[in-house]
Amino acid sequence: MIDLNNLNIKIFLDTANLDKIKNLLTNYPFIKGFTTNPSLMHKEGVKNYEEFCKEALNVSSNLPISFEVFSDDLQDMEEEARIIHSWGGNSYVKIPISNTKGNSTSNVISNLTKDGIKINVTAIFTVDQITSILDFFNDTTPSIVSVFAGRIADSGIDPIKIMSECSKILKSKKNIELLWASSREVLNIFQAEKTNSQIITIAPEILDKIKFLNKDLNEFSLDTVNDFFKDASSAGFNILEKDS
Ligand code: E4P
Repeated sequence: MIDLNNLNIKIFLDTANLDKIKNLLTNYPFIKGFTTNPSLMHKEGVKNYEEFCKEALNVSSNLPISFEVFSDDLQDMEEEARIIHSWGGNSYVKIPISNTKGNSTSNVISNLTKDGIKINVTAIFTVDQITSILDFFNDTTPSIVSVFAGRIADSGIDPIKIMSECSKILKSKKNIELLWASSREVLNIFQAEKTNSQIITIAPEILDKIKFLNKDLNEFSLDTVNDFFKDASSAGFNILEKDS
């Protein structure tokens, strides 16, 4: 019997919907933190970033929550990170692994973590990217590195090998947690646990499927047949043209 409360891995929720943060936290006590990103904010129609972040800090029960910088200029990125940090709470500032020109953010990582600002380095896809930033973290500042396992899988590459390798490399570093990002299915939680990732972030749509955990597969099959039958009936599909 699988019990999510007995896993080593911490489950974070990936959303920019404040109501979902509030409600799902009450209903799913195994949620241990939150991640957001500019695409999620755009989807939710967030207009005032500062207001949004402060409200999110209010409703997230002092659990870790990540907010991303927007600038493409490395110096501005650092300045934005310091402003986000000044809003207080248990926030991690999300810094992309590079700007849009592919310039490394390693110096931003170094300057911020040296000053005790917790960061979450995001949009990492390769083991080489992890290796390239490893020496720029400050050992006393908690940090997260987010490897986009789901998007790696979207490219046809198995992310498990990459995640396991990242996890091995990070063993030598204190205070850096490996986060399995861009999850695609419930199974990813157990795969991430096996790779020794410390955190997985999942979207509310995946959380919704947690109700199927431990479900008997014969029962699941029958439910599926029933669903198809009900939908065919509601649509009025009829191949044999018999009167019902
Ligand atoms: C993590 O912090 C990211 O916000 C997230 O997992 C990205 O997921 P996506 O690939 O589904 O956009």
